[in-house]
Amino acid sequence: MRKKIIAGNWKMNKNLEDGLALVSEASNMIKDEYNGNAIVVFIPPYIHLNAVSKMLAAYPNQFTGAQNCSNHESGAYTGEISASMIGSCGANYVIIGHSERRQYFNEHNQWLAQKIDTCLKNKLLPIYCCGETLEERETEKHFHVIASQIKEGLFHLNASEILNITVAYEPVWAIGTGKTASTDQAQEIHAFIRGLIASNYSPEIADQITIQYGGSVKPENAAELFAAPDIDGALIGGAALQSRSFTDIVKAMTL
Ligand code: PGA
Repeated sequence: MRKKIIAGNWKMNKNLEDGLALVSEASNMIKDEYNGNAIVVFIPPYIHLNAVSKMLAAYPNQFTGAQNCSNHESGAYTGEISASMIGSCGANYVIIGHSERRQYFNEHNQWLAQKIDTCLKNKLLPIYCCGETLEERETEKHFHVIASQIKEGLFHLNASEILNITVAYEPVWAIGTGKTASTDQAQEIHAFIRGLIASNYSPEIADQITIQYGGSVKPENAAELFAAPDIDGALIGGAALQSRSFTDIVKAMTL
């Protein structure tokens, strides 16, 4: 059985006080109202990680993650945050290659592959994002784009390393737009990604990889998405900023 993971990416939102209030509310609601076994990951800005991790220590299925990390181990890289620092703040997960990082900070697959390596070296679990722009979908390049992102970002890993990766399929045209991919569109790409992993590694390995969907996931569309055979959770932006909408999405994951 592969892991089901619901992760809330706050992006550059919430000061410390508001963030801790959100985590306190949401983590209690999840504890009281949710008896499934999906893993929940709170992904605040770096500087809140230590405090949020301490707050979640009491909840066995709730974790923290970072939104990015440096591709370097340590050294003279002013303003950067290393994987080892993230781990020392109590986080377990790191988003790598979010489309906003690719788009606004020119992060490319080769660089992202290095970030994946530093995460694994420091025992952090990467959530590797892939997804096409609207133009790429309209010109039918989406399969090609996603295949390159997956191959160039991940396929240098060996079979035991790849098992630590969670993939998040996030079509850029669905992020923050209110426009969700249909369940069929998402399922088609998830099955495609699983197929790529199966042919490069093995069907058994592909079957164990969690593939999340991201892009305007809301309480209203979560259950339908989660019912698809290859959708194993969600990476949530906007709806993760309020405890009720975030926990309602968690509750939509029944397994
Ligand atoms: P959204 O963001 O849920 O606000 O569309 C998703 C993401 O960027 O991970």
